[in-house]
Amino acid sequence: MAPTKLLLGLLVVLLASARAASVSLPALPLSTSSRWVVGADGRRVKLACANWASHLEPVAAEGLSRRGVGDIAARVAEMGFNCVRLTWPTYLATNATLSSLPLRWSLERLGLRESAAGVRVNNPGLLDLPLIDVFREVVSALANNSIMVILDNQITTPGWCCSRTDGNTFFGDKYFDPEEWLKGLSAMATMFRNTKNVVGMSLRNELRGPYQNVSLWYRYMQQGAEAVHAANPNVLVILSGLDFDNTLSFLSPNKVELSFTGKLVFEQHWYGFSDGTDWENWNQNDACGVSVQSIRTKGLFLLQQGWPLFFSEIGFDMSGTHTADNRYLTCFLSVAAEMDLDWAVWALQGSYYIREGILAFDETYGLLSWDWSTARNPSFIKRVNSLQSPFQGPGLPNSQKPYNAIFHLLTGLCVLVKSGNSLKLGPCDESSAWNYTSTSELVLKHTGQCIEAKSVGNTAKLGACFSKSCSKWQLISNSSMHVSTELTKNGTRVCLDAGPDGAITTNQCKCLSQDPSCNPESQWFKVILSSRSIPAEASVLQLPSLGVWPAASSSPL
Ligand SMILES: *[C@@H]1O[C@H](CO)[C@@H](O)[C@H](O)[C@H]1NC(C)=O
Ligand SMILES: *[C@@H]1O[C@H](CO)[C@@H](O)[C@H](O)[C@H]1NC(C)=O
Ligand SMILES: *[C@@H]1O[C@H](CO)[C@@H](O)[C@H](O)[C@H]1NC(C)=O
Ligand SMILES: *[C@@H]1O[C@H](CO)[C@@H](O)[C@H](O)[C@H]1NC(C)=O
Ligand SMILES: *[C@@H]1O[C@H](CO)[C@@H](O)[C@H](O)[C@H]1NC(C)=O
Ligand SMILES: *[C@@H]1O[C@H](CO)[C@@H](O)[C@H](O)[C@H]1NC(C)=O
Repeated sequence: MAPTKLLLGLLVVLLASARAASVSLPALPLSTSSRWVVGADGRRVKLACANWASHLEPVAAEGLSRRGVGDIAARVAEMGFNCVRLTWPTYLATNATLSSLPLRWSLERLGLRESAAGVRVNNPGLLDLPLIDVFREVVSALANNSIMVILDNQITTPGWCCSRTDGNTFFGDKYFDPEEWLKGLSAMATMFRNTKNVVGMSLRNELRGPYQNVSLWYRYMQQGAEAVHAANPNVLVILSGLDFDNTLSFLSPNKVELSFTGKLVFEQHWYGFSDGTDWENWNQNDACGVSVQSIRTKGLFLLQQGWPLFFSEIGFDMSGTHTADNRYLTCFLSVAAEMDLDWAVWALQGSYYIREGILAFDETYGLLSWDWSTARNPSFIKRVNSLQSPFQGPGLPNSQKPYNAIFHLLTGLCVLVKSGNSLKLGPCDESSAWNYTSTSELVLKHTGQCIEAKSVGNTAKLGACFSKSCSKWQLISNSSMHVSTELTKNGTRVCLDAGPDGAITTNQCKCLSQDPSCNPESQWFKVILSSRSIPAEASVLQLPSLGVWPAASSSPL
């Protein structure tokens, strides 16, 4: 090896270990505190996960033929996720013939010789391990990268999930024997009893189909939760709703009754295709407004009732060319920001060994590219970065005194004040601390200054709130994401708008008519609560102007 190469290699190793050292698992085990998932130290732990499929016919985590398992796990952490929802079929836990099958044979019996050759190159140590040990190694590789794992019972029989006719739909269906399912849950919970990074179990994915029955849901889900808890009291038990986990509305009147507390979480799924053709055919403000209302009655209400709700599958075509998916995604992000959701993207895998009979099936929803070498959509990773860590919840620096951040959906950035009192987008960790007051003013805390609209097309500025001239801001349109005011001068309505350079201006409001082709996203903001620390600059920056306005009357605190 040439010396420069050696040096480079050393640098890479050093950087890698620095990165590994900088992230660590939260204080485990996890539990729940009202709607929050918290660590053993009582601090909020926000689940920001990627789904990693391991339930298809080969019964092995996808991608082992493409990359080293450690590389894949490191990639999950690099993309900012702290958790993986790892799927498994019941048979992996209940069929010893299957679970003891070496990975090589499992691939070869399906004719997947190239995949087996790929595993030999990229994961030689896994090739001749029994499938159950391969599964454990994946969990271990994730642990080595401080990634939490939620074990998701996706299906009974290995294969792509989920349809109305696959025999895996609901208790009592052809392949869905409740007794076998309970046995599988117990076995899996027991197997990982001493594996710290396994923090939760999704009891069954996407219940659905003609056998659905609410009273059976209560009977079996309660039994499943008790079985898991008896075998492993450390894991969160996560319960899926009905109709492909699109609805939990039946929980509104009837609670789940369990012998234990502090471990119960519900999960909900939301994809663009669940809303039919609304996303393409409707005005974007209307489509998002209606869809969020429906998500609220189907599941979000649980948060208000003090239950944790995990959006365990959200997903979209990562190519960026699918209009409906793009619109759905922005709308999902608005809910994720507003409610500070725990969430999991479908999916990590860029491709499958085989899916629905197609070799090397391309996962267009995959975080990784088809060959697992790069991020399929790097801008998505940037956009969701601020939604991967908590804004709210126990243990944050300003939990007792949250402020408002003004979150811009399109960029994932927040509104902050820059020199000259103009406004721009920046990282949410550097967000200015705003207060959206009961009198509809957007006040910069501790300064008594507020956001003012001067004219159409100009930058929005920070001005003196104390006078009558302070702009009153309403959240308008059916999405409620336009931050809008009327110019004091002549009553023209304007909306906050972010330019490509991040400058915040006040422009004519977009897409308030029913036009379905119009894109309002540069003007979509959510005024959210944040308990993150307020960077010194955010409050100090404005101090010079304090001289102009008497501190006593301008500072609300
Ligand atoms: C167990 O798995 C093996 C290997 O896939 C399969 O041949 C067998 O039919 C399974 N047994 C049951 C009871 O499903
Ligand atoms: C995880 O780290 C341990 C200790 O360094 C190592 O022995 C083990 O092989 C790693 N596991 C995987 C799957 O990489
Ligand atoms: C649901 O299951 C219960 C218990 O088996 C049964 O009594 C009831 O009739 C079922 N309801 C429906 C709508 O099938
Ligand atoms: C959007 O809002 C307008 C009035 O604000 C209302 O008339 C219209 O029905 C709404 N559209 C939808 C789809 O809810
Ligand atoms: C805004 O200010 C009011 C009045 O001082 C205070 O009651 C409220 O908690 C503040 N809200 C936020 C989010 O800062
Ligand atoms: C109000 O003033 C703005 C300039 O700030 C101008 O663009 C707009 O046309 C005016 N509107 C009316 C109704 O006069």
